Amino acid sequence: MAEPEWRRRNRANWDERVPIHLNAPAVYNLQPLRDGTARLGPIAETVLGPVGGLKILHLQCHFGLDGLALARQGARVTGVDFSQPAIDAARALAAECGLDARFLVSDVYETAAVLPEPASFDRVFVSWGALIWLPDMAAWARVVAHFLKPGGYLALAEAHPAPYVFDSATKTSDGMPGWFHPYLARTPLIEDRTDDYADPGARLTNTRTHEWVHPLSDILTGLIDAGLRLDRFEEHDTVAWQMFDCLVRTDTGGYRWPDKPWLPLSYSLRASKPA
Ligand SMILES: C[S@@+](CC[C@H](N)C(=O)[O-])C[C@H]1O[C@@H](n2cnc3c(N)ncnc32)[C@H](O)[C@@H]1O
Repeated sequence: MAEPEWRRRNRANWDERVPIHLNAPAVYNLQPLRDGTARLGPIAETVLGPVGGLKILHLQCHFGLDGLALARQGARVTGVDFSQPAIDAARALAAECGLDARFLVSDVYETAAVLPEPASFDRVFVSWGALIWLPDMAAWARVVAHFLKPGGYLALAEAHPAPYVFDSATKTSDGMPGWFHPYLARTPLIEDRTDDYADPGARLTNTRTHEWVHPLSDILTGLIDAGLRLDRFEEHDTVAWQMFDCLVRTDTGGYRWPDKPWLPLSYSLRASKPA
């Protein structure tokens, strides 16, 4: 079957970003991983909980920075991403740091084809800018449920869909982000952008991407319909990256609104597979 256009275009875009991100220390700093001091940030660490000795599946792992930080903390990590250059870089980084982690190339929805270990993971971990690249939350939640062992849980730390309604490119007169994409549109957001969030100087050639702003209700209903139980749900006034020009950096490495907490910028949740 022919590969869907959304996936072909998104993969080309992500393949091109990998070498850029490997040389963008302001956003992807490899040094703490090399030094043995890498941390995931308070939101992701809190929702994951202690990881030592646990078997963790990290979906959309990019080039493995967070997965390898978890491996350093004693987790047995499997990272999956559809970008071959990302997985090549993750394997090289694991070898360089002497860390034992497994990295596999696969589209999220086809992970079962490369990972024949259903119901065997203590945690499925998904974070920061992952879900917007996926068209179908119900199918994604079924993948998560497929890999969790009974009693295990999904730890999700993500950008909140509410602020995705706005965009810095359509600024208001007071410098705040302007209206951009309706929250309940449920239509693909097709963009043509040459810039990269991690390196302002980079210019992409595979510019066209297909993204989806999923309402929270679609994400939560997908998880419930996949047989998972929502154990924890929090909304936060910070997010892991500079989602809008006006956001300011916090002491813990995240970004917040400059003045008031207008909208949540991220959320985190745990959804467990009943034992
Ligand atoms: C913003 S990054 C996620 C960052 C990640 N949380 C980390 O640890 O660095 C999004 C990732 O999703 C991957 N991706 C996008 N669509 C995908 C798909 N359909 N299947 C698998 N990976 C995908 C991209 O290759 C990219 O590495």
